[in-house]
Amino acid sequence: MKILVVGGGGREHVLVRKLKESPRTEKIYCAPGNGGISKDAECVPISAMDLLGMVAFAKKHRVDLVVVAPDDPLAAGMVDALENAGIPAFGPRANAAEIESSKVFSKNLMKKYGIPTAEYEVFDRPDAALEYIRSRGRYPAVIKADGLALGKGVIIAADFKQAQAGIKTIMEDKVFGASGNRVVVEEFLTGPEVSVLAFTDGTCVKPMVSSKDHKRALDGDKGLNTGGMGTISPNPYYTPELAQQCMKTIFQPTVRAMAQEGRPFKGCLYFGLMLTPDGPKVIEYNSRFGDPEAQVVLPRLQTDLVDIMEAVAQEKLEQQPIEWSKQACACVVMASGGYPVAYQKGYEISGLNENGQVEGATVYHAGTVFQDGRFRTNGGRVLGVTSLGDHLTQALANAYQSVSKIHFEGAFYRHDIGK
Ligand code: AMP
Ligand code: GLY
Repeated sequence: MKILVVGGGGREHVLVRKLKESPRTEKIYCAPGNGGISKDAECVPISAMDLLGMVAFAKKHRVDLVVVAPDDPLAAGMVDALENAGIPAFGPRANAAEIESSKVFSKNLMKKYGIPTAEYEVFDRPDAALEYIRSRGRYPAVIKADGLALGKGVIIAADFKQAQAGIKTIMEDKVFGASGNRVVVEEFLTGPEVSVLAFTDGTCVKPMVSSKDHKRALDGDKGLNTGGMGTISPNPYYTPELAQQCMKTIFQPTVRAMAQEGRPFKGCLYFGLMLTPDGPKVIEYNSRFGDPEAQVVLPRLQTDLVDIMEAVAQEKLEQQPIEWSKQACACVVMASGGYPVAYQKGYEISGLNENGQVEGATVYHAGTVFQDGRFRTNGGRVLGVTSLGDHLTQALANAYQSVSKIHFEGAFYRHDIGK
């Protein structure tokens, strides 16, 4: 098969590597890819948001399967465009991707179908939102922009003043554009967070092994929210009993709800959960593999990913067995100084071999380019240094040992992933 992966970060790198393991894969393209991905796939200079360009390329090169990994092209309807042109694609159509691209949609869905989540109200006027927060008088108050916001559209306001500033940023200054036309104001929940990615073909849902993200930039969960600074799998808080409970109260009800709404979800559905004192609740859905969750979950997959993706496309997931390794996996993200705010690009990365790898770990490239025989930084999150181990402690030790061999100007990473 000829396979095209859409996107160019660490998640796409692990997808490319995993798909390449399949004996069924003859050729693998990635658009646009990055420096590290270019060692594993043919990178094609088409932007991940170029729907027509992607369809034209897939047709011309007789691609058998397109894996659309990032949220933006999914929300924009890339899978619809590919399928309408007769090209098999992995990922939800736009009407199903709305489960991530509109928080108002996903909250209303959960309310309608009784799926546990934080209590909330929706507002399209700043004064009404603030009046509600003031009259409720409970802090912290959680304010979320309705639409996609690069993972930065959530404000946890400690008092009314912070709530005012948050509402202004989202609804008046419109820093996330039209994503801030409406906001969700919701109850603050507490408890450990768990990420569960699941394959679903619209009817059957098969959760993958669990993982835990570390969203804050600095050690001790300090600093700003980022796309994710490191992950571990499995998530130690997620017991088999909780997994069973989530299957019954969250995973199956969500997939059934989407089908009933006439928006069957096919692809990878990401459940961002919080294990609250009142049981597991949904914090958010994503319509795609998490990044860097995919980097610790997919290395543990023992079944051919091409077979699974085909089973999803053909709505035969029920009959497809999926096996996982018992090993643990850890990913430590090395980022550019200043991320997630402002940072420089173009620094040379030392310590990597000619394939962009280092001994003792697998390096998934997120923001790199390969130029004149050298890898250079080209983004906020630069590398995801990942290792398997018989236990989490071992996986973490391996990953950190490999991190210590890699250098670039301004590099920083968290020292407490998995702690
Ligand atoms: P989201 O983008 O919805 O995943 O939110 C980003 C982060 O904000 C989550 O990973 C949580 O740590 C936090 N968060 C979101 N909603 C809530 C909530 N209702 N209560 C407490 N923390 C929350
Ligand atoms: N790591 C969180 C996400 O992919 O949304």
